[in-house]
Amino acid sequence: MSSDEKLPGKCLACNRRQAIKLGAMGAAGLAMGATFTGCGDPAGLEQDVVLTLTDYPALGEVGGIANVPSSASGFEFEIWVIRQGEEDYLALSSECNHASCEVDLDGSNGFKCPCHGSKFELDGTKTKGPATKDLLAFDTQLDGETLTLKAGA
Ligand code: FES
Repeated sequence: MSSDEKLPGKCLACNRRQAIKLGAMGAAGLAMGATFTGCGDPAGLEQDVVLTLTDYPALGEVGGIANVPSSASGFEFEIWVIRQGEEDYLALSSECNHASCEVDLDGSNGFKCPCHGSKFELDGTKTKGPATKDLLAFDTQLDGETLTLKAGA
């Protein structure tokens, strides 16, 4: 199995870029007595993702949450979009930085990682490890019924 293939439980392990980086860090870390703590920085968008909001009825009301699958975005992880206000949208990568599993909605309380139990608030703030970072938020730009998630986050 390559490092890019999905493992059971939606765990993606570390993606190839992270695995290469960790391999280099691991060799240096072992030499210094460091321990492995996770995949590191979550992957950002390499290109803008343009969403047509009418394709996501859950976002029709403030407080709505929609899941954008990889097949719709071209991004390697699912994206969660939360409508926080009339014209205020939050877009979060589903990648958990511990070992790159994809987080799931945890009722209305936030997100939970199915692999090792990390938890995050609906705004992506980490509340429970072993993940060490918040979910990655993408910059968004609203233009009528089009929401653009900006590359480079
Ligand atoms: Fe381990 Fe998310 S991948 S807690």
